[in-house]
Formats: sequence, C-alpha cells, structure tokens
Amino acid sequence: MAGRKMPSAGSLLVGILVGLLVATLVRRGGSDGENWQGSGARNLRSHAALGGSSRLQRSQITLPSLSQRLRILQLMGTLSPHHTKECTRSPQSIYAEQVHDRYAPLVGHKRSWATSGSFLARMLGGGKDVNQLNANGVGGSQNSRIKRDLAAQNHKYFFAINLYNSFDVIPDIFATLFRTAAVLGYHNVFVSIYENGSSDQTKSLLKIFDALARAVGLRIDIRTSMRTRGAFNHRIEYLAEVRNAAMVPLHELRDNGNEVFDSIVFMNDILPCVDDLLELIWQSRKQNAGITCAADYMYHDDIGAPVFYDNWVARDINGTALENAPFEQVFHHTESNHRFQRHLPVQVQSCWNGIAVLDPAPFYAPPNVKFRMARLPDGECSASECSLICNDYWNAGYGRIIMVPRVKLAYDKKVYDIIHPDRRNLTAIRGYKRLGGLPDDPHTDPQDRSWYGPHDRLFTKEEEEEMTFRTGPESVWCWGWDGAGDLDGPDVDPIWEKMQPKSYSPEAITIKHDRGM
Ligand SMILES: *[C@@H]1O[C@H](CO)[C@@H](O)[C@H](O)[C@H]1NC(C)=O
Ligand SMILES: *[C@@H]1O[C@H](CO)[C@@H](O)[C@H](O)[C@H]1NC(C)=O
Ligand SMILES: *[C@@H]1O[C@H](CO)[C@@H](O)[C@H](O)[C@H]1NC(C)=O
Repeated sequence: MAGRKMPSAGSLLVGILVGLLVATLVRRGGSDGENWQGSGARNLRSHAALGGSSRLQRSQITLPSLSQRLRILQLMGTLSPHHTKECTRSPQSIYAEQVHDRYAPLVGHKRSWATSGSFLARMLGGGKDVNQLNANGVGGSQNSRIKRDLAAQNHKYFFAINLYNSFDVIPDIFATLFRTAAVLGYHNVFVSIYENGSSDQTKSLLKIFDALARAVGLRIDIRTSMRTRGAFNHRIEYLAEVRNAAMVPLHELRDNGNEVFDSIVFMNDILPCVDDLLELIWQSRKQNAGITCAADYMYHDDIGAPVFYDNWVARDINGTALENAPFEQVFHHTESNHRFQRHLPVQVQSCWNGIAVLDPAPFYAPPNVKFRMARLPDGECSASECSLICNDYWNAGYGRIIMVPRVKLAYDKKVYDIIHPDRRNLTAIRGYKRLGGLPDDPHTDPQDRSWYGPHDRLFTKEEEEEMTFRTGPESVWCWGWDGAGDLDGPDVDPIWEKMQPKSYSPEAITIKHDRGM
C-alpha cells in the first residue's frame, strides 16, 4: 500500500545516494503494514554467523526482516541527525545525477534483494514490483540501470571509530553510518567502535545506538574502556594503543571467522555526510590508494575563518608540512597547491585529517603494520602514530597516499555551517533560470567561487581520472612529541628526517592489491 505512495524512482535513488533516503520516506509516511516480530524472528541469519570468540558471537544476531529494518531507518531518520541532517537538503539536480552515476559501482545490495520485493528494491524500482517493471519495460533505461546496479558486490568495509567524550556527534555519526551502510550493503559493512574513558554520557548513548544498529542488522562491535593515558610512558604509545584497539575485531574476524575486508574506513569524532564517505571510498578504490584522507578544517580566531587543521600529520609529496592557513596557502608544493585549489585529489607523503580509508593488505600480510609510536632507540623522530603508519605504508609498498580536498570535514557546528553554506536561489536574486550550472556549460557554478563553496559542487572530468603517482621524498619534515613537558602537542624541535630507501623506490607506488570497481 505504501509502495504506491512512494515518490518516483529517480528521486528516491538520489535520496539513497545522497542520504535523503530516510527523510524522504518519513515525509511520505510509508508504512509496510507488517508486524514487528520481535526477537522471535529466526528466518534470517546474520552474515556474522561464523563462529569465533564470545565477543564476536555477540554479533551473531538474528537479522530483522527488511520491513522491520525500514521501520527502524524511518525512526532513525527523524531522531538522530542533528548537525549533518541538512548536508544535502536540496542538491542541485545535476549534482544528484552525477552522484547517482558516480557511486552506482559502490552499491552493494544483493541481487536477491532486487527480486524479493524488499524495501530497497521497492525504492529502487519506484514503488512497483521490480519484476513487473522489468517485464513491462516501464521506466526505461533508468530501471535497467538500476537492475545492473543491484548486481552482487562483495567489497567489504571495516569501519573503525575512536570516540572520546563524543556525546554531541554520536547521533550524526550513526545516522551517516546507517545510510552509508544502506548504500554499500549492510552485509558488506562491519563497524568497530572503541571508546576510551569518556566522562560525559558517551557510554550510555553508545548503548542506545548499539541496540539500534543491531535492530537494523548493521554488524557492530562497541568496546569501551576506562584505561587512561596515565598507564603509558609515552603519549603516542597511548594514542596508537587506542587506534589499535578499534582494529582488534578486524584481526579477530579473520582469525576466528575467516572474514577478510577489502577497505578500512578509520574515523575520528567528526561530522561527515554520506557523500563525503562515498567519495573517499570511491577515490580510494579508483586510485588503488594505500591511504586516502579528507581535508579537515578548524576555526582560526585571528584570521576569522576556517583553516586547514591537521598539519601535524599532513606532508606534501616533497615532505613539507601543510599549513594551518587559508585555502590558497595550505600547500607549499606548487603542483599540489594547484590541484588542491581545484578540489582535485592530491598525492601526499602523509595525511589523516579526521577520516582515512586504508587498504587493509599491509595489516593482514607482512609487514603487518599497526599503529605505533616511534622507535626511539633507533633514532626515529617521535611523530604522530598516523604519520608513522603512512611511513610504514610507504615502506610496505603501499605508498599511494592521497588527500581528497572535495571532502571537507568539520569538528563542530560552527565550521560545519561555514563549509557547507546554503545554496542561494539566484533566480530570485539575479534572474538566473536555474540553480547551479549554466545551460551551455553545466559545470560553471556561479556559487562556486569561494573555496568552501556549496556541498553539491559539480564533479569535473579531472576528478574521474587516474592519478599519476611519483615516488616519495627522501626527507620528511618531522615535528616530534615526546610529551615530556606540559605541552599538549609537538614539543621537540622539528627536523628533516631521512626516509628509508624503500619509500622512494618505484616499488613503493606500484599497485599490489587491486581494489578497483
Ligand atoms: C582517549 O583517546 C583520545 C584520542 O583518541 C585522547 O585524546 C583522550 O585523551 C583519551 N581519553 C583519556 C581519558 O585518556
Ligand atoms: C622540498 O624539500 C626540501 C627538503 O627535502 C626542502 O628543503 C624544500 O624547502 C622543499 N620545498 C618546498 C617547496 O617545500
Ligand atoms: C527560486 O526563486 C524563484 C523566484 O522567486 C522561484 O520561482 C523558484 O521556485 C525558486 N527555486 C527554488 C529551487 O527554490
């Protein structure tokens, strides 16, 4: 019954892909009319049914039916997002079309869903039975494209998240996770959260979302700890430990359940939109990158504007640090600066910036990298655990590290609002006939002059191209943090640190693990 009330296939697809899925459904008041079966339902088994440690067995839950999932998603859509709710409120239609085509290869629903009359199939099919649509040829090319998109995709994603006093951002993080998992396919996603010693209500909020995640069939493992930095000698040792703790289920699932992942998405307490995550994953797979990061911004009081934030870790391909500076002055490396200003992916020596997509291969296979502190006895500079893992990726032959400037991240609402400005209706102001691009060249965008620009900035051809990678720098600017004093950040004089010859040999940038789409 609800199916007939649903909006057209086109608008719903866009909805899924840019995160409007839930909001749209709720507005239409869709209800599938099936009863909630409670925990007695045993018809579907979790894909986690793999055997293993007791911790993992906790996630071997009976999956809810698809209609039950839909109901939870509807609830989540109105309850949870706070900051990121408006990410893609009214994307210009050309962007929505681009997003649909661009991320179609990432859609990971199983083929069986397309013919099962499931809610996703109904939405993708525009509220009618997909078989009937296909038989009648209703809907034309778009429906055949949708059908192709539903082909089984088995790329598996391991989300690792560290949270600490994150009460304010947890609802948004989960709303984004639910929606992103709906695109990638719930069966392809595993979420691991490690929370360390929060003093606010983070732990209780996590319990709520743990339950909700299980209710929608999202596999999740939340571990919390009261361990604090005090027990560790070195600050970086502690921070590395916290990150490794979020990675523990990756190894457990392989060792106990034989489940292997194809991409790791490592997140801090940050506010991404669904299309931010999809773009990082897309570029990571397109470029076969070892590490792919976003660009993060913090408010600079003196400048009165957001500036690039994570310059403790980020190094350009010459090994020079990026700057806490306005957009034009972030990169010293000329060619990188040029690409950065056009929002094109940039090869870097090192970066992290709030979210990083990693190729898991070096974690699984020798040299079995992990987050670590510097080997001080060997004279290694006491860099961030994130810089060190970038160096280790180079030495392991996974030195294809890129930063994706299109994906702009904020840690709070103030910066979030500045870097996701409202798209203004220029028809009302200047008589333009459309939002966004001009009719003769859809890629010109009168509102895309400032560096932050609108969130629905149109994709250019260059953003689809394979990048050319060069070998790493022989020396990298390193600013150490020994934590001896009271300084809450780097406290050692910076040096140019010599890299290992492996990292500047061509071997470091050849593709070893093809994660292409
Ligand atoms: C928890 O880890 C974060 C880094 O992820 C750190 O900043 C914070 O100080 C840690 N919390 C405690 C209580 O040590
Ligand atoms: C490139 O790296 C060298 C050190 O290897 C450094 O001296 C130089 O300043 C860097 N150039 C730029 C433009 O950052
Ligand atoms: C923009 O403003 C014009 C004129 O006021 C109005 O007709 C049009 O519907 C608006 N467009 C959007 C997308 O709000």
